[in-house]
Amino acid sequence: MAIRIPLSVPVVGPAERELLLEALDSGWITPAGPQLDAFEAEVARCTGRARAVGVSSGTAALHLALVVAGVREGDAVLCPTLSFIASANAISHARAVPVFVDCDATGNMAPGLLEEAIAAAERTGRRVGAVLAVDLYGKVADHDAIGAVARAYGAPLVVDAAESLGARRGERPAGSHGDIAAVSFNGNKIVTASSGGAVLTDDDELADRARHLATQAREPVPHYEHRVIGYNYRLSNILAALGLAQLRRLPEFLTARRAHREAYRALCAEAAGLEILGGDDEGDNCWITSVLVDPAATGQDPVRLREHLARAGIEARPVFAPLHSQPVYADPVAYPRVLDGTADRLFATGLSLPSSPASLPQDVAEVCERLAGALVRTGAAA
Ligand SMILES: Cc1ncc(COP(=O)(O)O)c(C=O)c1O
Repeated sequence: MAIRIPLSVPVVGPAERELLLEALDSGWITPAGPQLDAFEAEVARCTGRARAVGVSSGTAALHLALVVAGVREGDAVLCPTLSFIASANAISHARAVPVFVDCDATGNMAPGLLEEAIAAAERTGRRVGAVLAVDLYGKVADHDAIGAVARAYGAPLVVDAAESLGARRGERPAGSHGDIAAVSFNGNKIVTASSGGAVLTDDDELADRARHLATQAREPVPHYEHRVIGYNYRLSNILAALGLAQLRRLPEFLTARRAHREAYRALCAEAAGLEILGGDDEGDNCWITSVLVDPAATGQDPVRLREHLARAGIEARPVFAPLHSQPVYADPVAYPRVLDGTADRLFATGLSLPSSPASLPQDVAEVCERLAGALVRTGAAA
């Protein structure tokens, strides 16, 4: 059946059209221009950072962040195992080795296990290049605790805020934590430029180096001169225009996603054995809402529930498969890990539900009804 209620799709309209046409008419059909400058200023403002460097993807932003933070070939970089593959791939792109750390019940990296993993990584004789923390599904991680461990080992904290734009922890906005951070503007994110990302930092030197590397490390001389190997990572001015229009709608998108979270939370309050992944919503941008399904209490499992929803044209997805179990990173000798089974449990029991502002309250009400109906028919083939 065709998808009627998607997991997360972009919402664009007249505001995006207007800025896109303005960018086209400006003649800046390049990875430079006034829309890109304005976009960077707005991203920096939203994240409470002094500088934002617009690049072609969140993965490129993370790669650059690691490189300018000083990560070198062969370094160990600690990262949570419960994340999207790009978190680990960016470490590999920097020729470093991801070391996987399990999460706590919120889904974010557990600071206690990080301490264990970083000490173990040091004992193997590898230099610890950085700690890469992720704000999973739009919940800002405990960067105070994670940063304290990183600092104790002299490692910079790089934050993957790809999913958390608009979220806060206490007074601090997502993207403001760590020595340097990265955000994504991919099509499925809370704000999209169709694709794109940004490096965020308060350090002018780091920002300038990221920008330099993103433009093929071209020296500022009339002829083409390059002293180091750079990348073609700058964001297109056209895409920046789209991103700028979307950023102005961030409050609207936050309101819609948070309202969907409330509806799912109400379902969980009524249905025994269903619980929201991440604990309370304090400060979350509610980018994606996932529920944890207790098979004993519900007589269901996430696989059957997903298929049940799919038959009604409702898109749901498993929670991210832990990175330590991905075939490409499965070798525990090549890719060390410190695990306590939490990420495996969240993967086995988690189901991500439609969270898009494109969905109306009645769409989410339908998702809740269908879920509740499947749980009532405990044990039946849903
Ligand atoms: C946690 C996380 N890190 C990194 C990325 C990479 O962003 P992009 O797709 O823009 O390269 C994503 C999203 O795709 C993500 O969810």
